[in-house]
Amino acid sequence: MDQAIKRVAEKLKQADRILLITGAGLSADSGLPTYRGLGGLYNGQTAEGLPIETALSGPMLQRDPALCWKYLAELGKACLGAQANAGHLAIAELQRKKPGCWLLTQNIDGYHRAAGSPPERLIEIHGELAPLYCQSCGAVDAELAEHLSRPLPPRCRQCGGVLRPPVVLFEEMLPEQAIGSLYAELRKGFEVVLSIGTSASFPYIVEPLLRTRQAGGFTAEINPTRTDLSDVVDVYLPGRALDVLPRLLSHI
Ligand code: APR
Repeated sequence: MDQAIKRVAEKLKQADRILLITGAGLSADSGLPTYRGLGGLYNGQTAEGLPIETALSGPMLQRDPALCWKYLAELGKACLGAQANAGHLAIAELQRKKPGCWLLTQNIDGYHRAAGSPPERLIEIHGELAPLYCQSCGAVDAELAEHLSRPLPPRCRQCGGVLRPPVVLFEEMLPEQAIGSLYAELRKGFEVVLSIGTSASFPYIVEPLLRTRQAGGFTAEINPTRTDLSDVVDVYLPGRALDVLPRLLSHI
């Protein structure tokens, strides 16, 4: 593995334009549950016998806000109860060393911001858990933690409307601004794309890597379990983000 890490580090060192893609596996090392695979959130059904993707969907938030918020609150408590890890810090360090290093994350935990990744080069494609906003009057409410200890769904102080987090729920559209940034940067091209801790379940996650590969760029993946990308990338690093990323940075 050491040779492989050195090879990826060398490519990162030589590159200006880098895209890091992260998923729940990066925050698994902070103790947060992943969505798929072993112990994944999506493997089970909810207590109501619903698939979690139904409970955490846009239509459910409208139809039965208390039910949707029951599972949003679980995600919120997990995120607020943990923190960024050495993997997030290593990514922030790489972005400081490399002004052309962009970060595309599917995670809504906010740990990349907390670890110091520059917001202007952070694309949160599934949004973030906070601050909440009112679906009726648009008022912003930064007190997620307080609301989680009160009856759900959380309600707006101004108008009593149901609050929601700025996350992309199932059956909802991706944030236009995030998609716009991603494709604007993709059009400029990347020399290296590194997939970290994601099952690569969505086309907008796989596409940047495949386009870079087709354009002759270098691609790599960090994941303890093989994914559909593992046979596609130039280097597959079979390990945990928490172990691999700091070792990678030590060579840059
Ligand atoms: N280090 C690196 N990768 C890890 C680790 C770890 N310590 N632990 C687990 N993994 C890998 C798993 O092998 C898996 O491939 O992380 C991946 C997590 O995959 P998912 O649970 O599918 O999470 P993710 O790819 O981020 O899901 C994408 O799906 O429903 C949406 O909004 C949800 O953002 C999420 C998106």
